[in-house]
Amino acid sequence: MQQKIIETKITQCIFDELSEEYKKLVDLAKKQVEKAYAPYSGFHVGAAIQLENGEIFAASNQENSAYPSGLCAERVAMFFANAQYPDTPVKTLAIAAFTNGNFMELPITPCGACRQVLLESESRFDKDIVTILYGTEQIYIIDNVKQMLPLCFEKSSLKIIVDKK
Ligand code: THU
Repeated sequence: MQQKIIETKITQCIFDELSEEYKKLVDLAKKQVEKAYAPYSGFHVGAAIQLENGEIFAASNQENSAYPSGLCAERVAMFFANAQYPDTPVKTLAIAAFTNGNFMELPITPCGACRQVLLESESRFDKDIVTILYGTEQIYIIDNVKQMLPLCFEKSSLKIIVDKK
């Protein structure tokens, strides 16, 4: 019998240590929480995406009285970006969460369903997506989505030949 250890690399820093490009994206994610529709949870999430071509999109979580019909900010942002630019890889994703009048001190990480969707956007273009998770005390930077979803089920798991698109 053998054991295999899978490690996730997380870079920790504070806001001032970010590059100007990353600061801009984090600021946009923070701004976006104001547009969240979260009357049921009171948990406001903003996500900002930068594509390889420089285009930037931002989105927020959208809840629904039929709870499971709502969608996290990450998926709203990613589906929108991929729908607008189906041939352009995503470069960076920033996420911020706000509740009870404050941004979270420690970052929140995307839920499992979002990780699965983010992973598809990463693998369909075969291009790493850097995720910046904002917290007032600590920021995490994760080099690619695969790090957040090891042992994943993906296109290659289906063992069928799938079109690039
Ligand atoms: N939510 C997000 O938008 N992103 C996350 O990463 C975690 C959770 C939303 C879903 C729901 O509207 C609310 O936050 C509480 O779970």
